[in-house]
Amino acid sequence: MSKTPVKVAVTGAAGQICYSLLFRIASGALLGPDQPVELRLLEITPALKALQGVVMELDDCAFPLLSKVEIGDDAKKVFDGVNLAMLVGARPRTAGMERGDLLSANGAIFTAQGKALNEVAADDIKVLVTGNPANTNALIAMSNASDIPNERFAALTRLDHNRAITQVAQKAGVAVTSVSHMTIWGNHSATQYPDLFHAQIDGKNAAEVINDQAWIADTFIPTVAKRGAAIIEARGSSSAASAANATVECLHDWALGTPAGDWTSMAIPSDGSYGVPEGLISSFPVTIADGKVSIVQGLELDAFSKAKIDASVAELADERAAVTELGLI
Ligand code: NAD
Ligand code: LMR
Repeated sequence: MSKTPVKVAVTGAAGQICYSLLFRIASGALLGPDQPVELRLLEITPALKALQGVVMELDDCAFPLLSKVEIGDDAKKVFDGVNLAMLVGARPRTAGMERGDLLSANGAIFTAQGKALNEVAADDIKVLVTGNPANTNALIAMSNASDIPNERFAALTRLDHNRAITQVAQKAGVAVTSVSHMTIWGNHSATQYPDLFHAQIDGKNAAEVINDQAWIADTFIPTVAKRGAAIIEARGSSSAASAANATVECLHDWALGTPAGDWTSMAIPSDGSYGVPEGLISSFPVTIADGKVSIVQGLELDAFSKAKIDASVAELADERAAVTELGLI
């Protein structure tokens, strides 16, 4: 007997990330090859016509796992009974803009969506925010959804995690599958800290294998942290297919668990671990089992790593202060 479809809400569904994302979800990449899904797609009213075109294309794929698609511009209707929510819709950063500029523009969106999820989502709802500034948008949504446990909110740093894996694999001349235990700490922004000191290459400490502190500090970290801006510069618009891939991979692992013997990176509400103030949505190394996300404990942080993490966390604290000031949380 086939399984009950999982209801997956996606916002910004007519946008460029979703033009990749929806097809991955419907094909089974999110929840596996035997789990039907129902898509609930939210857009602003002017984008609904374009979204109808995307739905026509979903229809034209005849995906066996796609049980139903509903679209709309009313969050309370679209989120009704949803089990998973991918909050992608937001105003993308354009050339020259920093994420901080986006706080007020996006605050209203995530306040309303947090409230709507609080009212109508299923009891097991998990909410992953991709729309930037992702960490603080997740904080806003979480703060406006008092009936949903805080640990059901997360922001995407899996794209940064994947970027870091590829950069180090290319430097070491190994396959990406040789790289494990990667960590992104902090904010999904240029202050993030991709940590090679706990990563491994074929089971050996990655920083020791690379053995080039100048490359780590001056090439690896800035390349990963500024990759979003580099893609905007090259493409004229922000990353889309890779962001969709990361969104699918993050929620896949949240729902189905991280692989044995490795961890991933995910921005989740801090419990105070590693000195990150409680409640900030900051990226950590995490393992996931049975839908429960646990911060990897006991990693030794030297002065270099600690300073990098503190700088990114300070930016998150500033963003929290700004949205508090704006009355969004
Ligand atoms: P896009 O402009 O192509 O699409 C965004 C869509 O959101 C638009 O169709 C817009 O109509 C819709 N939208 C706006 N307000 C909405 C609302 N209130 N409800 C529902 N939909 C709404 O942008 P994109 O390239 O798809 O990027 C989406 C977001 O993801 C941006 O904020 C971008 O910066 C961010 N992003 C994050 C990461 C990450 O790793 N976290 C990576 C890439 C992009
Ligand atoms: C990315 O990392 O590609 C996105 O967050 C785009 C951006 O605004 O940097």
